[in-house]
Amino acid sequence: MSQDLKELFESNRRWSQEAQARTPDFFSRLLQQQVPQYLWIGCADSRVPANEILGLLPGDVFVHRNVANVVVHSDLNALSVMQYAIDMLQVRHVMVVGHYGCGGVMAALQNRRIGLADNWIRHVQDVRNKHRPWIDGMPDEEMRMRALCELNVLEQSLNVCETTIVQDAWQRGQQVVVHGWVYGLHNGLLEDLRITAAAVDDVMPAYGSALAALKERFDAEWNN
Ligand code: CO
Repeated sequence: MSQDLKELFESNRRWSQEAQARTPDFFSRLLQQQVPQYLWIGCADSRVPANEILGLLPGDVFVHRNVANVVVHSDLNALSVMQYAIDMLQVRHVMVVGHYGCGGVMAALQNRRIGLADNWIRHVQDVRNKHRPWIDGMPDEEMRMRALCELNVLEQSLNVCETTIVQDAWQRGQQVVVHGWVYGLHNGLLEDLRITAAAVDDVMPAYGSALAALKERFDAEWNN
């Protein structure tokens, strides 16, 4: 690897040429405007790139990523992305996408100190604490880990629904659907955790049924 990362610029040139070979006006069209339909809120993990997983091109998905796909009501960064995506770009769908094997979730579960991020991961520990008796009752760490990855998606999706940005959008009749998904590093597949909400009145029923379905699935797994 060269110090000035020449190989990355070469790879970038190839990508640009290929994109233009496929669609000659590809970049000139994107230059006009972006009209993404989706806002993806995912983990910063290098193995979970939004566009690539969805098979979408530049211009198709607005993206916010952080450690463990956390949505905090005082996080100006995430809120700014959401506000721009929903109010200005008018995205139709917001998906919170967690993934199994998430290092941030694992650190939260195991109280592992990793540095500054401990303070960020506290938010995932809040999720763990909220569901603690159930999680602690599980037979092994691998299952606890998978469960917390999914629970974190549900709680962060709920946080998205409760932001003033989504609440206001729904209030004025704007069509925005919030989703909670989980991604498998082992198979490259997305799974819908069915906390889908499209209106204020959807939120708690969607959360309740998604949580019940999640627990039922894990309970069935360890009672077998
Ligand atoms: Co992660």
